[in-house]
Amino acid sequence: MENLKILIDEQKLHARIDEIAKQIEEEYKGKEITLICILKGSVFFTVDLAKRINGDVKLEFIRVSSYGEGTESTGEIKMKLDLKDSIQGKDVIVVEDIIDTGRTLSYLIEYLKMKKPKSVKLCTLLDKPERRVKKNVKVDYTGFQIPDKFVVGYGLDWDERYRNLPYIGYIEN
Ligand code: IMP
Ligand code: MG
Repeated sequence: MENLKILIDEQKLHARIDEIAKQIEEEYKGKEITLICILKGSVFFTVDLAKRINGDVKLEFIRVSSYGEGTESTGEIKMKLDLKDSIQGKDVIVVEDIIDTGRTLSYLIEYLKMKKPKSVKLCTLLDKPERRVKKNVKVDYTGFQIPDKFVVGYGLDWDERYRNLPYIGYIEN
């Protein structure tokens, strides 16, 4: 972990997650919320967010793979683990770790809409707006907008490493 630098420390991370949770809580007052966690990266964020929402929260999990050979998603998305329960008629919030090109979410949102939820919103911890290819992806809740750096920690990996770091870091080369 020699060249690992902190981009967002634990305290800032949790303070912002608190704010997002409160915002969601207000907007969904009296409604059941279904959080769809996109495995594996958004596990940490989903859990911390869910714990802070005072209300009726259900959890669902989905896993897609978006990367081809390289380090940028190809747009060719494969379903690795599908939803197990119906989301028909549910108020759904998709919880993502990071939006980069937007290809993964663009595909996933369309896929989820076919399952006829009552509503679908999108919540991401991190956003790299400079990198967006799919301009149609509308984000409802964003934790932090970050520069075009490859980040790790708090669920985000580099070849499966660093997911368990409690903060968001980047590798300086
Ligand atoms: P997109 O389809 O290009 O938006 O890619 C989104 C996915 O790429 C995320 O869910 C992450 O799994 C991965 N990803 C994008 N940028 C980073 C990064 O900086 N660190 C770790 N994973 C990333
Ligand atoms: Mg991911």
